[in-house]
Amino acid sequence: MTSTMTRREFALLAGAAGTAALAPRASAQSASLIERAIPSSGELLPAVGLGTAYVFNSNDEATRQKAAAVLQALSANGGRLIDTASTYGDAESVLGEVIMAGGLRAKLFLATKLESPNPAELKRSLARLKTARLDLLQLHNVRDPQQSLGEFKDWKAQAICRYIGITSTYHGDFPAIEAVLGREKPDFVQVDYSLDDREAEKRILPLAAEVKAGVLTALPFGRGRLFRAVHGKELPDWAKSFAGSWAQFFLKYLLGDARVTAVIPGTNDPAHMTDNLGAMRGPLPDPDMRKRMVEFIEAL
Ligand SMILES: NC(=O)c1ccc[n+]([C@@H]2O[C@H](COP(=O)([O-])OP(=O)(O)OC[C@H]3O[C@@H](n4cnc5c(N)ncnc54)[C@H](OP(=O)(O)O)[C@@H]3O)[C@@H](O)[C@H]2O)c1
Repeated sequence: MTSTMTRREFALLAGAAGTAALAPRASAQSASLIERAIPSSGELLPAVGLGTAYVFNSNDEATRQKAAAVLQALSANGGRLIDTASTYGDAESVLGEVIMAGGLRAKLFLATKLESPNPAELKRSLARLKTARLDLLQLHNVRDPQQSLGEFKDWKAQAICRYIGITSTYHGDFPAIEAVLGREKPDFVQVDYSLDDREAEKRILPLAAEVKAGVLTALPFGRGRLFRAVHGKELPDWAKSFAGSWAQFFLKYLLGDARVTAVIPGTNDPAHMTDNLGAMRGPLPDPDMRKRMVEFIEAL
């Protein structure tokens, strides 16, 4: 059963689920944030967001508590972007309730995905997210190179969404992504890209730059694969000038590519959210350092 939270209940839930993680660190507050311009508009977007596949699947009290704490951590540390989808279990409903209870909607850049250009599916997502307008509406898992974005463009013209995008994390579908990206020129493309999965560097990122599409990187930790690869290992000394944790090491590799607009790591842990947002601060690795990072991960 779902319930509607008040703003006070949101504060209590967020506090109960992770007070320590919510307190922004003094250094994080004073340092400037890494933001990237959305190529089609020039609007600045904080470069680390939140992915919500798997983490908020069921709309129950415990999940809403975690979501409230994660969103509070996102907001308190300068983050704005949340990526969800109509197919992520109850995630849209959980987010809708928590965003409304926290009065966060105006602060957020809210992105969701539809399986097809279906008005009923769009209506359902808007209702679940409790919003009349999305920041970004994406077509999920594009497979057909002939796919039209006509309906998405109409919805953008009607101001139901501010930006449109396409996504895929299946390399076999990258030719379709390239065809649609090149022909339809959406505002964003979202693909899997991580330190150990760099297929997107070859064709998707160059084409995105050519057609002036922003890039969101799905699976920036390879669904946790990168953490498992370095399990029990210390961050190398040479990385400590730019990364305070493994998460920041992995995310800063991606942000070291200026074609990446934002990374969207998934988490239901407010301390991890705060850690991930730390990648928006301090120096980024230069091309030589990025090469060294690849060599490091390939040698594991
Ligand atoms: N086709 C598509 O459009 C598509 C496909 C896949 C994914 N996506 C998007 O991409 C987002 C990211 O992908 P993902 O969530 O599947 O995988 P991911 O971000 O690569 O990895 C998530 C894993 O990393 C862990 N993690 C997160 N931050 C951490 C930290 N600071 N320290 C240690 N562990 C940490 C999480 O565990 P905890 O929860 O414990 O933090 C979780 O197990 C999705 O949520 C979704 O929004 C899109």
